[in-house]
Amino acid sequence: MTKKSFYITTPIYYPSAKLHIGHAYCTTIADAVARYKRLTDHDVFFLTGSDEHGQKIQQKAEEEGVTPLAYVDKIVAGFQGLWQKLHISNDDFIRTTEERHQRVVQEIFRRIYEKGDIYKGKYKGLYCTPCESYWTERQLADGKCPDCGRAVAEVEEDAYFFKMSRYERRVLEYIEANPDFIQPVSRRNEMINFIKQGLEDLCISRTSFDWGIPVPIAPDHVIYVWFDALTNYLTPIGFLDDIEKFEKYWPADIHLVGKEIVRFHSIIWPCILMALDLPLPKMVYGHGWLIVDGDKMSKSKGNVVDPLLLIDEFGADAIRYFLLREINLGQDGNFSRDALITRINADLANDLGNLLHRTLNMIGKFQGGVVEKALGESAIDRAFLDEAQKTIDAYEREMEGMKLQSAIKTTWAFISRANKYIDETMPWALAKEAAKKQELTNTLYNLAESLRRISVLIEPFMPETAAKIWRQLGIAEDFSAVRLADVRAWGGFPAGTHVASPEQLFPRIEVTEEKPTAEGRKGSTTKSQEPQKKQKAEKAKHDAPADGIITIEEFRRVDLRVAEILRAERVPDTEKLMRLQVSLGDEEREIVSGIAEFYTAEELVGKKIILVANLKPAKIRGIRSHGMLLCAKSEGSLTLVEVDAPAGSAVS
Ligand code: ME8
Ligand code: MG
Repeated sequence: MTKKSFYITTPIYYPSAKLHIGHAYCTTIADAVARYKRLTDHDVFFLTGSDEHGQKIQQKAEEEGVTPLAYVDKIVAGFQGLWQKLHISNDDFIRTTEERHQRVVQEIFRRIYEKGDIYKGKYKGLYCTPCESYWTERQLADGKCPDCGRAVAEVEEDAYFFKMSRYERRVLEYIEANPDFIQPVSRRNEMINFIKQGLEDLCISRTSFDWGIPVPIAPDHVIYVWFDALTNYLTPIGFLDDIEKFEKYWPADIHLVGKEIVRFHSIIWPCILMALDLPLPKMVYGHGWLIVDGDKMSKSKGNVVDPLLLIDEFGADAIRYFLLREINLGQDGNFSRDALITRINADLANDLGNLLHRTLNMIGKFQGGVVEKALGESAIDRAFLDEAQKTIDAYEREMEGMKLQSAIKTTWAFISRANKYIDETMPWALAKEAAKKQELTNTLYNLAESLRRISVLIEPFMPETAAKIWRQLGIAEDFSAVRLADVRAWGGFPAGTHVASPEQLFPRIEVTEEKPTAEGRKGSTTKSQEPQKKQKAEKAKHDAPADGIITIEEFRRVDLRVAEILRAERVPDTEKLMRLQVSLGDEEREIVSGIAEFYTAEELVGKKIILVANLKPAKIRGIRSHGMLLCAKSEGSLTLVEVDAPAGSAVS
């Protein structure tokens, strides 16, 4: 059976400067969708590239005193390096300066000209060079470019025009008849309004500079950069040289673009395609913009975030995860270093990292590292398996609907559920009773199978981590051959598999009180963010509810656990501090606690107390304290909250 094809594109970015986190955001979304489609067995073509012509690039090159090609060559090499480091799985990379593309653009010009939809005239009007966009007086906002707010220049030159007005009615009808064509819906309404104001013919050639593809019938003109750029989507899929490939992939399934260029993709591009008698793309998805610490990124503000530095500091998968998890696709979203670190610690190091670590540790300790066959199931198992099935159904539904953020939330809810399953089943307690051997085996099998599933579900978002988990699980099957269908039914984990010993996926990022955020760590964003951090802390204070009420979700974020004190010792030269070694059943921790005035070391050992297990670790007197115990405070005295329950039990 032939596979269903799936063609997805990103914008081809301008190599006028190196790429920032906003570009990385768009390409990461496209990559996640492409990877998901491969997981669901599609024949995927994923295209990205660079848009190298135009007045802006020519001006930049002139400023640097190099040829435009020399200028873009260097920057484009940077694009490609970035995509590699970010694990972007594009199938081709189109540069508009390539010969294969020049042929396509000139051929398209020729076809439309011969059809009578291109004519020569004189252009007199306004041009925004940063946006490479024509405007009419009426369209300006306060005399400035309505897209970027910068000054426009008056242009008057001989030019070729594309009869876009001819397609006004047809493109409007298409948009109205195909509700999914422009996503999200808000963008669709904007486009409908834009067309209803009337489509004018589009000027598609320039003579006042020469960095572009020559008009085939008049080489003193270069083709307008957007006319050149939009046709990039046809070049690599064989438009002129491989009809079979072209028919397989065209029309594109998704053109993913930023919201500011939806207009080019959902109006101008369809008109060009209609003039060529080609089918229109199935969807133009306009994603929102990324802002940084609440501010638009700009060179003059000096707040442009370099994705390469972030990858070097935190790893590609952490950045990918953050971008996809934190921002709702259709809306604008905020990037902040604090939020990134919080996500890494809470979701990756804690939720995911702990699940893998605890599971492999227990399989190692209780079953010599072998995952054994499950037989029968308890009510607790059944409830858990039920959740696993619901997870996969919801995940598929959400991914199919481009709801990437929801699919990640769904996956992480299951990760938390699996951690809770450990707390419910308490394998360390089962291991103490010979009669509970099969129950223990079943629990550990279910945990291993959950992780097998999780590694597949997270592959679109975090491909490197997914493969790492797979490897640690010890499954012999090649991960790159695994499909979503392979984890749809429970029980695919091969019994008898030897798991590896656990390796840390994401080191916890230490943020101590004395040394706020990023000091002492590399990364250019470090220093410049310090003042912004303070502002944010202030803001957070103001945002806190005045009545002190928190929601159940907020409370649930606190991971309270029963811990048994194994050892206790006074921290030298202090009056209050006690250094404690505690057990959480499957894990030991060290904490420092201010209880030395009220308890002796001997009294403390053997007590079972309640620990805030997911408290951000802090260094106290040079000792890393990972957790905080609960005490009742009354005048001048402290009393430990003690419980009689097995260490590791969740308190809720
Ligand atoms: O427009 N947040 O290229 P471009 C999120 N060459 N995404 C952002 C972003 C931000 N702050 N800044 C940029 C062009 N992007 C043309 C495209 S396509 C035929 C030609 C992303 O370098 C977003 O996807 O200005 C946006 O549409 C794209 O980069 C624009 O890149
Ligand atoms: Mg732009």
